[in-house]
Amino acid sequence: MKELMQSLREASIKAINESDNPESIEALRVKYLGKKGELTAILRQMGKLTPEERPVMGQLANQLREEIEQAIDLRKTILSKAILEKQLESEAVDVTLPGREQPVGHKHPMYNVLDQIKDIFIGMGFEIVDGPEVELADYNFTKLNIDEGHPSRDWTDTFYFTEDGRILLRTQTSPMQVHAMETRSLPIRMIAPGRVYRKDEVDATHSPMFHQIEGMVIDKGVTMADLKATLNLVVEKIYGKGTVTRFRPHHFPFTEPSCELDIQCHKCGGKGCPTCKGEGWIEVLGAGMVHPKVLSGCGIDPDVYSGWAFGMGLERLAMGEYKITDLRLIFENDVRFLEQF
Ligand code: DAH
Repeated sequence: MKELMQSLREASIKAINESDNPESIEALRVKYLGKKGELTAILRQMGKLTPEERPVMGQLANQLREEIEQAIDLRKTILSKAILEKQLESEAVDVTLPGREQPVGHKHPMYNVLDQIKDIFIGMGFEIVDGPEVELADYNFTKLNIDEGHPSRDWTDTFYFTEDGRILLRTQTSPMQVHAMETRSLPIRMIAPGRVYRKDEVDATHSPMFHQIEGMVIDKGVTMADLKATLNLVVEKIYGKGTVTRFRPHHFPFTEPSCELDIQCHKCGGKGCPTCKGEGWIEVLGAGMVHPKVLSGCGIDPDVYSGWAFGMGLERLAMGEYKITDLRLIFENDVRFLEQF
């Protein structure tokens, strides 16, 4: 019986020390110490012993039970420590690794150009004015001295909301001149950027929606010289010092006299190239002295006050600045395009 216990001791300790997970240790506990376990089976044979041998064997059996239990506890502690260490290792955070970059968006290139223009005008004491895109024909045309038969009023050119042609999507930011004159006290120095709408087919240079920036100054004694000086300054800030400008006579119903402002092509210096379509000059904006009829229509006495105004296309400006060749790229908002700025 002693031998049986000795071989049980050896076998059980070996098995316990070789087990590699808590479940198998638990199974070993049942196998050796359980009610139907191997130690119990040995103890069942106690009956065959002499009364003298029994207590000795009983003590040995208790000792063996204790040894096996201790071995189990020890192995369990070792295993759970190893499991914890493994877990800590696999979940470890390497604080020295570089962080994962979170992509951050940025302003649309066209709005970068707009911000630049706003800064230039704010620096000269101008106010930024916002106004409606859904406009009355009265403001978009009539109060700007655009008569009934004017082609820009045509239903094929303009988005009208009502059969009577009273409400429309503004075709230009010029109605903001009227809004400013009606709501502000004099003198006025303002620019009004915003969306405008025309029934244009989409191509590389046209879109039914685009952006304009209107500008206007009304004060006593304002002349064409102020217009030229101010716009020359703006052009130099946008295109660089020494940019050559040309004020070319033109016609707009709401300004008199009217002009268009060209800059000498910055690419070829005026010789003619693809950028300026061989012209040597690039048209930048329309401008002029606010028509006396427009002034008086807004309750301003043209004998006391005068003013100048301009309107320019924002997309065209951004395209020039960033060398963008197709207008559609500005509106498609393809990140592969936008990421380049
Ligand atoms: N509104 C004109 C257009 O869309 C541009 C323009 C020309 C605006 C002359 C003005 C101006 O303020 O004085 O073509």
